[in-house]
Formats: sequence, C-alpha cells, structure tokens
Amino acid sequence: MARLIRLNRPGFRSARGAVFCGHAFLGTLLLTGQTPPVRSITEGVYSVGQAARGQQLYKAQCSACHGNALEGASGPPLVGDSFLSNWSARSLENLNDKIQKTMPFNLPGSLSRSQSLDLAAYVLQAGKFPAGQAELSDAALAQIVFPMARTSAAGAPEGNLAELMRAIAFPNSNIIFNVQLKDPGAQTKKPPASAPFDYVEWGSTIYPGWLAIDQAAVAIAETAPLLLTPGRRCQNGRPVPVDRADWKQYVKELVEVGRLARRASQARNFDAFVDISEKLNDACANCHKIYRDKGGTEGSGATRCQPLEVK
Ligand code: HEC
Ligand code: HEC
Repeated sequence: MARLIRLNRPGFRSARGAVFCGHAFLGTLLLTGQTPPVRSITEGVYSVGQAARGQQLYKAQCSACHGNALEGASGPPLVGDSFLSNWSARSLENLNDKIQKTMPFNLPGSLSRSQSLDLAAYVLQAGKFPAGQAELSDAALAQIVFPMARTSAAGAPEGNLAELMRAIAFPNSNIIFNVQLKDPGAQTKKPPASAPFDYVEWGSTIYPGWLAIDQAAVAIAETAPLLLTPGRRCQNGRPVPVDRADWKQYVKELVEVGRLARRASQARNFDAFVDISEKLNDACANCHKIYRDKGGTEGSGATRCQPLEVK
C-alpha cells in the first residue's frame, strides 16, 4: 500500500507576484513623437565584433552563474521565454543598467559602460536576435525595446508557482491519494452536509464517488502544462525555470500520470490506484527534490526554483 501523502504546509504569502506591464511604456514612446523612433532588438542593433567582445567577458565573469549557454544555473537564464517575458517591452537601457549596476552579482559596479554594452550585445546574439552594421551605443539604448512577450489568452499569469500548486495540484492530488483509503464505488449518496463551505463534504454529495476522481485526474492532466507558462515567478521572485529540459520532463511525467489516473478512474478500477498514487507521488516528489525542497520551506527558500547547488 502506498503512503498517503498530504503536502500540507501552513500558508505564507509573499508580496511578490508582480508581473510588470510594458504596454504603457511602449505606447507613450510611440505617441509623443518627440523622441527618436522606437526600434526593436530584432532590427540588427549591435555588431558581430561587439558581441564577440561581450562573449569573452561573459565567459570570464558571468558563465559560472548563468551557464555556458546562458541557460541559467545559480543565476536566472539570460535567453528563452522566461527571460524575454521578464524584459517584455522594456528598453535596452534597463537591461544595460541591470548589468552594469548589479552584475556580476558578487562584484556589482565593477564593469565599465562599454563592457556592459558589449555584454548586452552578446545577450542579444545568444538570444538569436540578428546583428547589424553599427555597434550598440549608449545614446541609442533608451529607444531600443524588447518585443512584447507572448502571453496566454488570459494575459500574464495570476499566481506565483506556490499559489498555483496549492490551488490545483494540492487538492486534486489529495482527492486521488484518498482512493487508497476509501473505495469511491462504495460511497453512498449522503444528504448535504451541515458545513456548506467544506468542499470535500458538500462537493462529494454533488459529484459523488468516482466522479470526483474523474475530475481530479482531468484537473491534473490538463493543468500540468500551466507549470510551463512563461512569466510566472516562484515565491522568492525567481522565474519558474520553464526553459529547462529536466523541468519540461517533470511536467510531462505529471501529465502522463494524470492521464493514467483518468483511464483507471473511468474503468472504476479501484485496485489500480495503489500504483497510481505511488506514481503520482513520484511525479510531484521528483521535481520537488530538485527545485523545491533543497531551497528550504515556504518562500523563505532563496535557492528554490534554481536547479544547481550554489557553491
Ligand atoms: C555570483 C553569481 C552571478 C554572477 C557572476 C553574475 N550573475 Fe547575473 N544574476 C545572478 C543572480 C542571482 C540574478 C538574479 C537576481 C537579480 O536579478 O539581481 C542575476 C540576474 C541577472 C540579470 C537579470 C535577469 C532577469 O531576467 O531579470 C542579468 C541581465 C544578469 N544577471 C547578467 C549578468 C552578467 C552580464 C554577468 C557577468 C558580467 C552576470 N550576470 C554575472 C547571479 C550572477
Ligand atoms: C515540474 C516541477 C514540479 C512538479 C511536477 C510539482 N511541483 Fe509542487 N512545487 C514545485 C516548486 C518549484 C515549488 C515551490 C514554488 C514556490 O516557492 O513558488 C512547489 C510548491 C508546491 C506546494 C506549495 C508548498 C510550499 O512549500 O511552498 C505544494 C502544496 C505543491 N508544490 C504540491 C505539488 C503536488 C501535490 C504535485 C504533484 C501533483 C506537485 N506539486 C508537482 C515544483 C513542482
């Protein structure tokens, strides 16, 4: 019999959840007519030679934390969907300030302006934005912007990762874990419970027995891809590492267990749920082991959502 796992932890709310909105910024620049025309980073705004200088600096001073391919290590990725959504519609001046004033993280303020420009050029090249003839210059920075990031139809994510976990993964996986204790087929239809806000009590009179398990399985399978939505943050402010291959694999495994649970639930196969609970627990725990638990509990974990041990 598999362990009954309840991932219950006391709540902790962080003020972080902020997703900036770049629409207004871009709009103002376009409308005033007084500033030079806004260009996009897609329009060849740096030169190949400049990016090559930036690459040398990057290797020496940045790759240890941001990875050889800028994919992120103890520091966040500097390419890919989560990076682009952080910088959506912001200017290269913002990026350059971020680099020059706050990086390297352990030695801020040590880069010259021209060095940080070279680094910004390299970040663009690594992100597959084309080079042009002219070098990126300090004077042009404010008028060059990142493209507006793609967001889902619903706009930017509403919750941070921990909130999403508590809202969907936690209740629905516990409904499935409960099958280890009680055969849903044996549930008798009860009259409505006296405590109407207890969802489990009351809800189980509306969708009794196996229906609740069908639904929980659909919820897990269909919502696991929300763990890949770019622009979502973890409680500690780090971007959810949506571009990492191992993260994508953990999400895929969760989708697969959700589907398996749905098949078994629709077949009303009570016995299958010992194995399914085990698999579901593994799908949650394999990812938590790497991305959550090493970073400490409840948002206080500064290293949560980063894959590698910081040395
Ligand atoms: C000792 C580790 C470390 C080193 C070295 C380092 N960084 Fe960082 N970097 C971080 C951390 C941690 C963050 C996230 C916290 C923050 O934004 O200040 C970060 C954030 C950034 C960001 C913002 C990313 C975003 O999406 O908001 C950029 C850009 C950046 N670093 C560029 C660089 C460059 C260029 C260098 C080399 C000159 C460098 N970093 C060196 C650790 C490091
Ligand atoms: C792809 C990786 C991944 C998968 C799969 C995953 N989680 Fe999480 N989970 C995380 C990370 C990372 C956090 C920390 C989020 C944060 O701090 O914002 C988290 C946080 C949580 C929390 C919040 C509690 C706390 O300590 O902050 C709960 C509850 C939770 N997960 C439950 C589950 C359950 C149940 C499953 C399986 C059905 C699951 N998770 C699957 C990565 C994952």
